[in-house]
Order: sequence, then structure tokens, then C-alpha cells
Amino acid sequence: MSRTIIVSNRLPTKVQRTEDVLTFQSSEGGLATGLGSIYRQEGNVWVGWPGLFVEDTAEEEYVREQLRQDSMVPVFLTEAEIHDFYEGFSNSTLWPTFHYFPQYATYEPAHWAAYVAVNEKFCQAVLAQAGPDDTIWVHDYQLLLLPEMLRKARPEATIGFFLHIPFPSYELIRVLPWAKELMAGVLGADLIGFHTFGFMRHFLSAVSHLLGFTAQNGRLEAGDRSILVDTFPMGIDYDRYVEAAASDTAREHEATYRQVLGNTRAILSIDRLDYSKGIAQRLRAFELLLLRYPEWREQVSLIMVVVPSRDQVAQYAALKEEIDELVGRINSAYRTMRWTPIHYFYRSFPLDELASLYRLAEVALVTPMRDGMNLVAKEFVASKADHRGVLILSERAGAARELSDALIINPTDMHQLTEAMHDALVMPEPEQIRRMTAMQKLVGQYNVFAWTKLFMDRLAFSKHRQHTLD
Ligand code: UDP
Ligand code: G6P
Repeated sequence: MSRTIIVSNRLPTKVQRTEDVLTFQSSEGGLATGLGSIYRQEGNVWVGWPGLFVEDTAEEEYVREQLRQDSMVPVFLTEAEIHDFYEGFSNSTLWPTFHYFPQYATYEPAHWAAYVAVNEKFCQAVLAQAGPDDTIWVHDYQLLLLPEMLRKARPEATIGFFLHIPFPSYELIRVLPWAKELMAGVLGADLIGFHTFGFMRHFLSAVSHLLGFTAQNGRLEAGDRSILVDTFPMGIDYDRYVEAAASDTAREHEATYRQVLGNTRAILSIDRLDYSKGIAQRLRAFELLLLRYPEWREQVSLIMVVVPSRDQVAQYAALKEEIDELVGRINSAYRTMRWTPIHYFYRSFPLDELASLYRLAEVALVTPMRDGMNLVAKEFVASKADHRGVLILSERAGAARELSDALIINPTDMHQLTEAMHDALVMPEPEQIRRMTAMQKLVGQYNVFAWTKLFMDRLAFSKHRQHTLD
């Protein structure tokens, strides 16, 4: 039987060490949460990094066995690889470049060398799992070289690649000293997928400039191989969020929060700690709301969840300080005995608690500077059983291409953001319901199962076409 081998840097389960004990928890991040619902089907496996440095082979074996029971295969990284490959090339070179923050990017040859070596390590791990009939589905920017490596080892393999983050203009890509190698790496796949048409267009432009291959109707002729390139906006497991939001646990949590908030209305913000998410800008816009519209003081609170992420990378640590400082300043300036302007949580929440926050909030603020898709926006929509609530969404999140019934804003325009918050808070209920219902229809229909099927069917088609052309 043919299976799908999913490959990504991070597994959907992360292992953590707390006082010498290893614990297993769900990973955050859209890739892991989104695909988490599909990988267990039909004997599939997921190959990836469990998120910590294991100290000895006994520990390795323990982690391997625990994960095996849940269809996962760990790729262990050394401390040096975590530093140079994960924090280094992946998150200090590629992530800032692809999210239009080139001023944060570093270009270290040693980090590049580690990137090549870890992609090779993943290649060996996948080859050990994949049979000749299996489909290999590689995910995201940490593994751009993997498709080509796999192709060299298995010329006949069926390989898909999906990029979960934006693909930027060629003007940013060309700055990378290793741009050509990276593009050639991805072209090892039979199908290459992006969230939006714009990302795909930038990719094709980069491939044409760097490697001289041009595409026609989504088909790239790359030397002796024909590759399909297409757009697949990722969805969520819609029913899971509908159910989680309707569950007793979510209702109980909501009731507890409601008691604390009293009649205060809630604006919600949920992200991993990341400069691409526009968290500091959002805080400044909320401050401006309180300044410009004093009538909202004691009437509205911002509930802000920031999930710790990549805290060993300098920019992330600096952002954490900036957020702490802003929250402290705004809260101390405006709070009263019965009202806290910002309820700030620097930790991650399990699904049912997230669902209770989605239920509770009247407004969700999803205002990234750049984002591949942003699943939080879709999860908020799915959780609104009464069809009320307003989504404020950045025009630079992939999700904005689909969710046109959100209040779409430019996240750098603080005044626009402030006005959007005000507009959301005064939006008449019939308009909220009309917008929310339209978005729910779309998010419900194009869910993660539909997304997977579209990608897999297209991948099979790409393979079939290659064979019939041979
Ligand atoms: N998330 C979570 N726990 C939290 C906060 C967020 O599991 O406390 C999840 C959230 O439900 C979403 C994912 O993390 O599925 C974030 O994905 P998104 O696409 O919004 O952004 P990314 O982190 O991938 O950049
Ligand atoms: C984004 C990326 C994923 C990544 C996730 C969490 O969603 O597209 O590839 O796994 O962020 O980041 P982390 O560095 O913790 O894996």
C-alpha cells in the first residue's frame, strides 16, 4: 500500500525537558496544527525534529519509541545544528528574508553549511522510511534543499513540496548568496505549492532569473523534468474548531473569563512571538484607541496571547522586551481598580482554552506585517457559533486573499488599525452576522482535508503527465 511520508522540520509533537523529565505536547505553529489532523490517516508517517536536544542514546531511544506509537519518526539535531541550522540559517537568514525583513538577516557560511548538512540528514531519514510507491511531501523553508537531494537518491520518487511562508519578490531572494542552490533544491519536487498566487508568481520570477527556466500555465520545464507549480490556500480542521468551541470545557473556561471581565468587551490577539506578526504595532494602535476614544476606557480590554518562540534568536528576545515594556506602560497609564486594559499571556494554550478565547472575543486582531496564511484568523471564524464577532485582518496575511469579509487593513497604518477597532466595536449585529456567515461558509468548505486532497490529486496528476510524456 502506498503511504504519504510527511516531512517538516518540526513534528506536531514537541518534547520538552522540565526538571529532568521529558514531556510530550502539541506543537504550535500553523504547519503542525493544520496538518496534525491528516497525517494519521492510512498508515502515513511524519518525519521531523522533536524540538529539543537529547542527551544520550537511551533518551533518544525513549523519544523514538514514544513518537513511533503516534506515527512519527524523529530526526535528532545536535546542539550545533540547532544553533547553526535552526536558529541560524532557517530563522536568521531565510525567515527574515522571506518575510521582508532583510535588515534582520545574517549571511553566515557556517550556517549555510549546517543547512546543507541537516537537509542531508533529513534525506537519509526519509529514505529509510519511504518505499518506492510512497509519496513524499516536504514542507517549508527549513527544507528547501531536500526535494533535490531526494530526487538524486530516488529519481522515480513522487515528491511534493509546500511552502507555508510567503515567497518574496526576487529583489529579496537575489540578496541571498545561496539563492541559486536554494531554488534548484526546491525544483527536485514534482509539484510545488504556495498559499497565494502572488507567492507563486514571485517564485517563478526568481526561478526564471536565477536558473533560466520559464513556466507556462503553471508548468516549469526544468532541464529534462517537468514540474507543476500551483496555489493551494491552506485550510483548518473546521469541524474540530466548531466542536471545541461548543464543548463544555470551552464554555466553562469562557464563563470563568467572563466573570473576571464583567461587562468589559474583549478584543483578542493570538500569535507566536514573531516580528512578522506586528504585535508591537498592534499594542500601539490599542493605546491610540484609548487615547482617541476615551469612551472605550473601562469598556474594552485586549486579551493578548503571545506564544514563546525562537527565543534564542536575538530579534525575538528583543521583541519580547519591547512587548513587555509596551504592555507595562499602557497598563500602568490607563488601568483602574476595576479594569485592566491588556490581559497579556506569554505562554501557549491548549485547543479547548484557545476555543474559549475565540468564543469570548468580539473582535479578533490578526494584523501581521507579513504572513504566509495565518490560521488563527480561520480558527476564530470557525469558533463563532452565533455568527457574531468581527475579524480585523492584515492585507499582508495570505488569509486576506480569501477572507474578504473581514475588515482588511494595512498593519503599518496605525490610524487605520485604530479606526478599524472602533468600527468593529460599533458594527451593527446584522452586518457582523452577514460577514461572519460568508467567511464561515468559505473556511468550512476549503478545510484542511479539501486542501490535502487538492494537493495530492495535483501531485498524482503531475506524475501521471510526466509518464505519459516520456
Ligand atoms: N496556537 C496554539 N496555542 C496557542 C496559540 C496558538 O496551539 O497558545 C496555534 C494556533 O491555534 C494556530 C497556530 O498555533 O493553529 C498558529 O498558526 P498561524 O498560521 O496563525 O501562525 P504561525 O505560528 O504558523 O506563523
Ligand atoms: C511557522 C512555520 C513553521 C514552523 C512554525 C513554528 O508556522 O511556517 O515551519 O514550524 O512557524 O516555528 P518553530 O520555529 O517553532 O518550528
